Amino acid sequence: MKAVELLLNRSSMPRLVAPGPTQDQLALLEAAALRVPDHMNLTPYECHVFQHEALHTLSEIFVAVANLEGLSEAEQTRAAQLPLRSPCLIVVTTRYCDEPKVPRQEQYASAACATMAMQQMAFAQGLGAIWRTGVYAESDHMKQALGISIDNDIVGFLYVGTPAVPTPIKPKKDKSIFIQR
Ligand SMILES: Cc1cc2nc3c(=O)[nH]c(=O)nc-3n(C[C@H](O)[C@H](O)[C@H](O)COP(=O)(O)O)c2cc1C
Repeated sequence: MKAVELLLNRSSMPRLVAPGPTQDQLALLEAAALRVPDHMNLTPYECHVFQHEALHTLSEIFVAVANLEGLSEAEQTRAAQLPLRSPCLIVVTTRYCDEPKVPRQEQYASAACATMAMQQMAFAQGLGAIWRTGVYAESDHMKQALGISIDNDIVGFLYVGTPAVPTPIKPKKDKSIFIQR
């Protein structure tokens, strides 16, 4: 896929099925995540990849976190299914570095770019992906369960798999954000 085509058509895919990414495809996602703008080369993020049995462990974590967060019975029941919505789930977290020249928001920006780069690389390879957050991304209980320090942030859950249906390419937004000055 040409870069221009990718950049003009990238779309999320919420309906994802097996097969998940191969090891080679995953390696390209990782390479893309390591290519993003990164002030002082800190690589202030990491990506926790869940597949196969690990997804079931993550499902149990979601249920436990739903309970600890005091979510409703219905949400606790639904929690078990959330990480199983794709054959591969990548949890992107910050790994903030203590560098006075690079404030945390810049480091977070790099982590967000990494998430986006992985989604683009998935799309470019004919895979589908969607970036989700919600209460589970905000939860200190989730961080604890995943072994992520409370000081860091969960930037997103990137669900990756095979599109269940052709990825709908949304029409381009009919608006302008460029202000000529
Ligand atoms: C930081 C961030 C968090 C998001 N969280 C969610 C979410 O929790 N649930 C959801 O359905 N979409 C979420 N989205 C939106 C989807 O990832 C996606 O962008 C949206 O469905 C629009 O589709 P598109 O990417 O094809 O334009 C989030 C997007 C961003 C950038």
